[in-house]
Amino acid sequence: MELLDKLNWRYAAKAMNGEKVSEDKIERILEAARLAPTSSGLQPFEIFVIKNQEVKEKIKPVAWNQSVVTDCSHLFVFAAWDTYTAERINYMFDLTNKIRGFENEGWENYRQMLLSTYPQKNAEENFNHAAKQAYIAFTEALTAAAFEGVDATPMEGFDADAVDQILGLREKGLRSAVLLPVGYRKENEDWLVDLVKVRKPMEDMVTVIE
Ligand SMILES: Cc1cc2nc3c(=O)[nH]c(=O)nc-3n(C[C@H](O)[C@H](O)[C@H](O)COP(=O)(O)O)c2cc1C
Repeated sequence: MELLDKLNWRYAAKAMNGEKVSEDKIERILEAARLAPTSSGLQPFEIFVIKNQEVKEKIKPVAWNQSVVTDCSHLFVFAAWDTYTAERINYMFDLTNKIRGFENEGWENYRQMLLSTYPQKNAEENFNHAAKQAYIAFTEALTAAAFEGVDATPMEGFDADAVDQILGLREKGLRSAVLLPVGYRKENEDWLVDLVKVRKPMEDMVTVIE
């Protein structure tokens, strides 16, 4: 199947059958998320992969009781940095220098520019920026899941504060941004499975400026 066929195949599953997704597929989906581009390469988020059924049961009531939270195989929680700190910025710049094996003046100047701007900003503004980066990885995971023939339900319908509390995210300097239950569709119980995909026409979305 071509990528576009797979993107047409995928949909936001409303019912899943509890079947387990193999760990090698899960690893490839997570690797796609890890490879996501992010602003300044900071990757300002972490992903929690919940396999534990009791934890899923705790999250379900604070996620509008959506059945896929418990009937999925793995529940991914994309958690963004609560703010940008000098330590977090330095970590990524130091990692880059270590992996590439050299320091570069332009790159070091860029580090100083980020250090003199991000940490001074309002934490909420920084979280919102970090959450946008988490969404990029989330989309990569969604596409990778489709590529693997695995269903995934993008999910913003949850109480972020409650999920943060259940997973102890605030103590880690993180805040939940978006959820992605991953598993397999339960076709006979999903009202959405046979409905035609609705997208606005290309001309209402794209403007080409010659
Ligand atoms: C960021 C985001 C949050 C969403 N939150 C929910 C959700 O909480 N529950 C749900 O059933 N669907 C949720 N959806 C699914 C959308 O309604 C769905 O993607 C959209 O209607 C397009 O349909 P399709 O994904 O089936 O092609 C969400 C989608 C996105 C991208």
